[in-house]
Amino acid sequence: MSTEAPVGSPYERMGGEPGVRALVDRFYDLMDLEPAFAGIRALHPATLEGSRDKLHWFLCGWLGGPDLYIRRFGHPRLRARHLPYAIGIAERDQWMACSLQAMDEVAVDRTLAERLAESFFGTADFMRNKGG
Ligand code: HEM
Repeated sequence: MSTEAPVGSPYERMGGEPGVRALVDRFYDLMDLEPAFAGIRALHPATLEGSRDKLHWFLCGWLGGPDLYIRRFGHPRLRARHLPYAIGIAERDQWMACSLQAMDEVAVDRTLAERLAESFFGTADFMRNKGG
């Protein structure tokens, strides 16, 4: 065993379902509140309740916890599911800024937050489906 790796999945280190939900709730609260994220807020439905649930279920599995999203909807096919929304550099960067602020505010462990930020960026960049 290496000595430097903290024990447990990211899901466990975030405190399981309640911890993941707190991050998702802060993420969508910020998207609703902050003018800087108005661009991506406008892509979402009027009420964010469904979006909160879907991101929560998805992240639980993605972070190494139970596959709550796949049980309900099957393979995430994230890029295909984002094709109805025009996503470019600006939208990617707003999504990233919103998630970084949310991780900071709910006090995700710094090392874990840095690792998640890298993974989020890879996925967010992959969602781009328009120029600019
Ligand atoms: C790059 C910028 C992104 C934008 C602008 C964006 C926007 C959206 C929008 C508008 C929806 C539909 C919400 C709804 O149906 O209520 C959605 C759904 C979703 N997004 Fe994103 N998203 C982005 C990146 C990401 C990333 C990086 C992840 C994962 C790490 C993610 C995970 C999801 C999931 C799991 C859903 C639900 C899919 C479904 O079942 O329909 N998104 N996103």
